[in-house]
Amino acid sequence: MEKCPGKKKNIAVFISGRGSNLKSLIKYSNHKRSLINIVLVISNNPNAHGLKYASSSKIKSYGIKFKSRISFENQSLKLLKKFNIDILCLAGFMKILSGNFIKKFSKPILNIHPSLLPKYKGLNTHSRAIKNKDKYSGASIHKVTKRLDSGKIILQKKVKILKTDNVKSLKKKILKIEHEIYPKAIIKFLTSP
Ligand code: GAR
Repeated sequence: MEKCPGKKKNIAVFISGRGSNLKSLIKYSNHKRSLINIVLVISNNPNAHGLKYASSSKIKSYGIKFKSRISFENQSLKLLKKFNIDILCLAGFMKILSGNFIKKFSKPILNIHPSLLPKYKGLNTHSRAIKNKDKYSGASIHKVTKRLDSGKIILQKKVKILKTDNVKSLKKKILKIEHEIYPKAIIKFLTSP
């Protein structure tokens, strides 16, 4: 585990559903020498399974119904400020944040995406990789900018697509590496010049 160079960074995580990446980030943050404290979890879906996991890990968590983008973003910005958040991590967050939100938050925002970006921005990444008979797919962690899935890539890992793979099996393989690389990407982001 990395040596902690200073004060741990306060992290917020945005999720929309299951929250398995959130779980891997919480697991990393619980290490004594981790570089981060996860202090806030927000979901646009009040029924997201990940919210229950966050609360059971004693992390402040909020389900904010996505009545409109502006109301969701304004409520979230207030919480990000209140909890003194240094970095926002999107982990299976299926809404697009506005340029205005990114500007107002003004701290780094990271996202995990299930493809080897710049390939397959947006949705249905696994079926597109299979349909195109790609030899590899994978996952990417990148900085969030106002252009969808287009910010600087921090870390990627690839997996081989076998002839026997289908969307379900590929998704499962990629999810496994996602859990591995998100904490690593945060460490890289915080420690590389
Ligand atoms: C993950 O595969 C993540 O890469 C993807 O949603 C899944 C969420 O799973 N994110 C996107 O597609 C974002 N465009 P999780 O809720 O179990 O972490």
